[in-house]
Amino acid sequence: MLTLRGRVPRRGKFLSDIGIIRDGALLIRDGVIAAVGARSEVELLPESRSAEKLDVGGRVALPGFVDSHTHLIHAASRAEEYELKIAGASYEEIARKGGGILNSVKKLRAATAENLKKRAHSALRQFAEYGTTTLEAKSGYGLNVTSELKILRLHKELSAEQPLEIVSTFLGAHVVPAEYRSKRGGAEQYVALLTDKLTPEVASGRLAEFCDVFCDRGAFSVNEAKKILEAGKQHGLASRVHAEQLTRSGATQLAVQLGAASCDHLEQVSKADIRALAKSNTVATLLPGCDFHLGLKQYAPARALIDAGDIVALATDYNPGTSPTVSMPMILSLACSQLRMSPAEAIVAATVNAAYSLKRDRRIGSLETGKQADIAIFDVNDYREIPYYFGANKCWMTLKKGQPVFQKAHT
Ligand code: NIG
Ligand code: FE
Repeated sequence: MLTLRGRVPRRGKFLSDIGIIRDGALLIRDGVIAAVGARSEVELLPESRSAEKLDVGGRVALPGFVDSHTHLIHAASRAEEYELKIAGASYEEIARKGGGILNSVKKLRAATAENLKKRAHSALRQFAEYGTTTLEAKSGYGLNVTSELKILRLHKELSAEQPLEIVSTFLGAHVVPAEYRSKRGGAEQYVALLTDKLTPEVASGRLAEFCDVFCDRGAFSVNEAKKILEAGKQHGLASRVHAEQLTRSGATQLAVQLGAASCDHLEQVSKADIRALAKSNTVATLLPGCDFHLGLKQYAPARALIDAGDIVALATDYNPGTSPTVSMPMILSLACSQLRMSPAEAIVAATVNAAYSLKRDRRIGSLETGKQADIAIFDVNDYREIPYYFGANKCWMTLKKGQPVFQKAHT
């Protein structure tokens, strides 16, 4: 059992602390961990005698993954663009021709809430199949009042209709939508729509906890991002930022200045950015699925981030354009082989540190007394086999608040 007990957030050498207990056991009461330790001790507790027993047969149990960056709600895949990218078109070229995010916006606006929900439910079942128990979800394929609110309301409805916990983020600032691009001063007007109309509405409807901006060439500038994130903060939405993905924009420095919860991507970060993050409590969330899917060679410099003392987390970035995967185990494999993180570091980044970035570390992210019984059980002999067996799903069972939400069929 990997308990992941200990200090949160974890930096530097502490990023390897996974708190292994050999032949461990947990006692769960009302979805909460009541005791954790060696099986011989936990079994002797008076309450254990009347407890229902679940023998996982020597498999590896760890906290359910916390996927702290997803674009859960979208209408369709962009497989046609995938083929264009393989043939040599870049992500930015496709976006300039009206593909990319704008392609997904067109499809989402045309989709019914019912169909979007059906697709999301199916994705959520798959997240559970790969051991994820909590995920963040961003809006950002609506980009007008009606469609952004439609997405954020779906986050709320989905939270009530299925067992995984969804943390909602408002990403009205994904890109400037087509109808504002075509007119003079359009970008400025769209930013004003976000700050003066949508943000207050999102906050008063309690539709999101976080506000995010895609700050990059072709999306929003640092100045625009500052306005949008400050408006979010004024309305009680903490900041997250898509930073230094395609180009170095300076978004990381802004994220640190604003005390952002998370700064994500970071393929193009500078040494000064890495140092600024180390002095802050802003989490550096790495998304290696994007670089893998887009076939890019430059992954985020994870080793430099870890050595400097940044709080490193990992997430899927589940989205139709750059990372269409729900699999945290695949992200761990990429973190190990491409980012050169150790399996232990990758697991900490995908659990406790990710929970910290979502401001939920007191309740989830580790298997400790008093925390929620969110558990992933893998059919492996050694935790290092979780990233090692890439591309095959070794998740055997997933529990949310002590209840199974996925169980592998007997083979
Ligand atoms: O995290 N970078 C911006 N947003 C997404 C991509 C969205 C898309 O292409 O649809 C990302 O990579
Ligand atoms: Fe993203």
